[in-house]
Amino acid sequence: MNQPHSVLSTLIKRRSIGRLTDPGPNKEQLQAIIRAGMSAPDHGRLRPWRFVVFEDSAREKFGAILATSLEQRLESQGLAVTDMQLSKERNKLLRAPCVVAVCAVLDHDNRIPVIEQFAATAAACENMLIAATALGFGSMWRTGDPSYDSSVKDTLGLKETDMITGWIYLGTAGTTPLEREPEESTDPYVSHWS
Ligand SMILES: Cc1cc2nc3c(=O)[nH]c(=O)nc-3n(C[C@H](O)[C@H](O)[C@H](O)COP(=O)(O)O)c2cc1C
Repeated sequence: MNQPHSVLSTLIKRRSIGRLTDPGPNKEQLQAIIRAGMSAPDHGRLRPWRFVVFEDSAREKFGAILATSLEQRLESQGLAVTDMQLSKERNKLLRAPCVVAVCAVLDHDNRIPVIEQFAATAAACENMLIAATALGFGSMWRTGDPSYDSSVKDTLGLKETDMITGWIYLGTAGTTPLEREPEESTDPYVSHWS
């Protein structure tokens, strides 16, 4: 923890870790992670991001809301929810001691295209993952059906036209993540226009 990394090695080292345990970031560390998110490029300086933090019992409390919203989504498709599905939903946020919902409050009347406003919040998510890695924490960016559910958005104080860009899971990695293949070739993805 807290070992200095070069920016490049932190970027390359970052790996998603699905199960994270205590300790999560403390108040200062979480603030640094969110501040890193807010340092993302932001066309027009619209500050489209909102960060909703879930820790301790708030994760279970919100899990109950996720379970209800799943039940309603399935019901609207004429499907019945199973106990296993409900339990999975209830326990979702318990996969890490700290989860941050990164939301995009989108101004549809602005000259800056909405997709760029959303892109700024996606850049914020990535910055947060890098900051968490630099601080020695494990992290993972998740989305899933609740991200697109209006009742979930409403609970977070968002409008139907806003977006949940990601759920950033933060905590301590139980296992050492796999090293990213260091020599993955850039060639298939790059061309030089001439
Ligand atoms: C917008 C976005 C949403 C994602 N949502 C999920 C998700 O809900 N569940 C999941 O297992 N992985 C999800 N991922 C992928 C992981 O965050 C991760 O990038 C992937 O597992 C590859 O692992 P790595 O980050 O270690 O390369 C998402 C990635 C992005 C960019």
